Amino acid sequence: MAQHPVVVYGASGYTGMLIMDWLIDQNIPFTAVGRSAARIHEMMAQRVVRLESATYEVIEAEHDVESLTRAFKGAKVVCNTVGPFVNYGLAGVEAALKAGCHHLDTTGEQSYIHQVRDRFGASYAEAGLLVAPSTSYMFSFAEIAAELVLETPGIDALETATICRLDRARSAGITVGSTASIFELMRNPSYYLWDNQLQPHGPDAGFDLVAPDFMQTMLALPWGGTSLPIFYQDDSRVRSCLSSVSFYDAQPMLRMIHGLAQQWEAEYQNLPVEQQDAVIRQMVDSTTPAMPPRERTTINRSVDFAIGRGQLAACRATIHGVTPYIATGALQTAAVIKLLDGETAKVGFASAVKAFGHHYLLGFLEQRGLARASVTDL
Ligand SMILES: NC(=O)c1ccc[n+]([C@@H]2O[C@H](COP(=O)([O-])OP(=O)(O)OC[C@H]3O[C@@H](n4cnc5c(N)ncnc54)[C@H](OP(=O)(O)O)[C@@H]3O)[C@@H](O)[C@H]2O)c1
Repeated sequence: MAQHPVVVYGASGYTGMLIMDWLIDQNIPFTAVGRSAARIHEMMAQRVVRLESATYEVIEAEHDVESLTRAFKGAKVVCNTVGPFVNYGLAGVEAALKAGCHHLDTTGEQSYIHQVRDRFGASYAEAGLLVAPSTSYMFSFAEIAAELVLETPGIDALETATICRLDRARSAGITVGSTASIFELMRNPSYYLWDNQLQPHGPDAGFDLVAPDFMQTMLALPWGGTSLPIFYQDDSRVRSCLSSVSFYDAQPMLRMIHGLAQQWEAEYQNLPVEQQDAVIRQMVDSTTPAMPPRERTTINRSVDFAIGRGQLAACRATIHGVTPYIATGALQTAAVIKLLDGETAKVGFASAVKAFGHHYLLGFLEQRGLARASVTDL
């Protein structure tokens, strides 16, 4: 049973520990939950900044609904970072509901988000609780940009791009958990919103992105569709939403992932699940063998933009950002602050951007030097 109001699940992971950094900064006590207490203590000692001034406890729990419910009970908010969420996410969502907690996670995996909405949205709403997937750099930044363009009357169609610069010199700059989530996208369908209907992306879907912030064009991919078409599917303001992701300085990696998506369709999609698991495991191990170092503002930079179109209206909002994983910790903590104060505009299934407002989240990021927004009429 948790003694503190916030649970960080996946407490030995890169992102879980960054959430802790920000909770400590805000003086919010937390319960660190994971499958190995020893590993959590070891990793926190290595990685969590200001641990000496934290109020926290560590609870070990098996990854099943019953054990997690026991561990979460007593808390008010669960910050879940155990991914890939298509594989592990729903157990945490169910356990948080049973324990009477709000649930935040860090993923843009569309198939999982679809399931969270359809299987748990109504029960969370009945319980007066929020379940807010994707409370993370991907895709809260793009959603904040989308909300900024939606402030212009008449805008009803959105295109978004999420562009990161990685840390190629030191490592891939992507965590083990993120790499696993990326490759899981291949075996799940992905959709964009077109004229109020979700439409499937083909395995060869890709975009030649032109962004005025960069000298060169770049390949961008649908990245499993992203959370945004699901968040905007039932939003009366929006008819169409197409999202993309690119890595400016890792175009060969992106082309490799693009090729793999097509290879998956041709060679692996009909294999038994265990054989698919082995293929994905091999891809993850060969791409990201270990936890990367903490991000640096001189290297890890991002540009997210949304282009909004109406019949005649046209507008572009851009969010320049730094250190996306660190920003994910800040977004989770911004959401926690509101939930602990009982201030949410939404319960049930909703994005953090809709529950707490894009200006609040953008302001939280801007005040901490993590993001800067600009809006241009086109
Ligand atoms: N959208 C975004 O902007 C964004 C940003 C950050 C993170 N993320 C997502 O968040 C997730 C975590 O990322 P990360 O960077 O923290 O990865 P990570 O460093 O690999 O951490 C993963 C965590 O999950 C735990 N875990 C893995 N498999 C588990 C299982 N079967 N049962 C219980 N616990 C398990 C690990 O515990 P052990 O230490 O015991 O293995 C670890 O605590 C990924 O899905 C990633 O894509 C998304």
